[in-house]
Amino acid sequence: MTITLALSKGRIYEETLPLLARAGIRLAGDADPRSLILPTENRDLRLILVRAADVPTYVQYGAADVGVAGRDLLAEHGGQGLYQPLDLGIAPCRMVVAVRGGFDYAGAVRQGARLRVATKYFHTAREHFAAKGMHADLIRLYGSMELAPLVGLADAIVDLVDTGNTLRANGLVAVEDILAVTSRLIVNPASMKLKRAAIAPLIDSLKEAARAG
Ligand code: ATP
Ligand code: PRP
Repeated sequence: MTITLALSKGRIYEETLPLLARAGIRLAGDADPRSLILPTENRDLRLILVRAADVPTYVQYGAADVGVAGRDLLAEHGGQGLYQPLDLGIAPCRMVVAVRGGFDYAGAVRQGARLRVATKYFHTAREHFAAKGMHADLIRLYGSMELAPLVGLADAIVDLVDTGNTLRANGLVAVEDILAVTSRLIVNPASMKLKRAAIAPLIDSLKEAARAG
């Protein structure tokens, strides 16, 4: 009974590996560094590397039994067909609305202005502005959102902030919080049923590892 755990390269991989190590799970030494399937020392557990936004999809369709995904991407995905049993507390950041330093966002909202908002979090942003009763024309981007207000593509962006360095470096300020973000363990419901004997202990040991971290 093999368990497949989906991770994204970069931050999530770097922050999940120590948790796995604390749970007694280490990568097998002989993995090809370019391979997207990474065996672990535990023959019954392998990791797969996918784009961050694709982790929920792999788990939803059962191509991975479990995965690690940010709450930002889970909100965007919708979370259908996914259990979310554990907040791992890793990769903490916030999803915010940000504008250029001089832009009067509160005034624009008060006046019911129609704002152009650039983001890769299209669904989450749409829900946020709809809940506020605001008119927002959304423009879908795939990265470097901070550039959009500087070159006149948008009045505002919806993006992630951690240290605030990227916003500051581009003369932007956060004007509204949308979501506090950390990464969660997600589980395919059918896997949870059929492979419970392996997945339940994995959840328990990751819970312990996250608490100790
Ligand atoms: P890709 O590079 O594949 O397009 P991505 O840019 O979303 O995807 P990462 O930057 O590795 O991938 O981000 C993965 C997750 O880490 C995000 O979904 C979010 O939950 C979290 N994250 C993103 N940026 C930060 C940050 N600056 N600080 C802390 N956590 C962050
Ligand atoms: C994320 C996010 C912001 C930045 C915020 O980008 O999209 O641009 O981090 O972090 P800060 O507040 O600490 O500056 P990331 O570094 O992941 O780059 P990428 O999304 O373009 O890969």
